Amino acid sequence: MTDDLPLLTVDAVTRHYGAHIGCKAVSFALFPGEILAIVGESGSGKTTLLNCLSCRMPVSSGTVSYQMRDGGMRDLATLTEAERRFLMRTDWGFVHQNPADGLRMRVSAGANIGERMMAVGDRHYGRIRQTAEDWLARVEIPGTRIDDRPTAFSGGMRQRLQIARNLVTAPRLVFMDEPTGGLDVSVQARLLDLLRGLVGEMGLSAIVVTHDLAVARLLSHRIMVMKEGHVIEHGLTDRVLDDPQHPYTQLLVASILEV
Ligand SMILES: Nc1ncnc2c1ncn2[C@@H]1O[C@H](COP(=O)(O)OP(=O)(O)OP(=O)(O)O)[C@@H](O)[C@H]1O
Ligand SMILES: [Mg+2]
Repeated sequence: MTDDLPLLTVDAVTRHYGAHIGCKAVSFALFPGEILAIVGESGSGKTTLLNCLSCRMPVSSGTVSYQMRDGGMRDLATLTEAERRFLMRTDWGFVHQNPADGLRMRVSAGANIGERMMAVGDRHYGRIRQTAEDWLARVEIPGTRIDDRPTAFSGGMRQRLQIARNLVTAPRLVFMDEPTGGLDVSVQARLLDLLRGLVGEMGLSAIVVTHDLAVARLLSHRIMVMKEGHVIEHGLTDRVLDDPQHPYTQLLVASILEV
């Protein structure tokens, strides 16, 4: 892997739903170790874009290229289904807003973490169990809950388990869609702290969708602001939040400061 080349290059990505625009002509590059926040109001195209970037949805036009482990850039549209699945299992993580979409609810917390390790070839039961225990501790879930199913967990615990399941294999790129979205404010703050610590420690690259500018402020290096499917502003997080250029971003920032 090469650090001075982008991990992900996005060129004029557009996605239509029939005549309706999901996202339009989005271009940017993400470098290794960078956290990009995609912000914007409901319906602005954040999830559509994230799904296009992570191969969960085909683009209507444009290209997404990814730096593979051998250093070569690949157009994701040309991957075979097997290659795509391999990337999703090994190189990428995807944290869903609703933890039930990213967890296996009928198997234990330990197995949820262990499954990801097995997917990258680990077969040693003792090590898998130990790593699962370590990761539960890292996301502040008592080790005594390792054999419980996520159905017995609170919303905040489920989200922390989903994060552990995604990060245990040290993915190179993590996609997150409103990772703190469905949680109480106090639980959100704690989770955000935890996430920030882990991302920093592991030097992860991530693309985080959020409508919450506080989440963007805390987690991201750069912010991309979307409105009606278009990127209207893009820059370093502090610059965008302290000195927004586009009137819509100014409005967004002002409305947060008022509360
Ligand atoms: N499956 C779909 N079929 C038709 N239109 C869709 C579909 N999914 C999204 N859209 C439309 O595309 C636009 C962008 O939606 P998207 O879900 O990407 O927004 P979002 O920014 O993630 O919103 P939210 O913050 O509410 O999650 C919206 O106008 C939405 O109505
Ligand atoms: Mg969304």
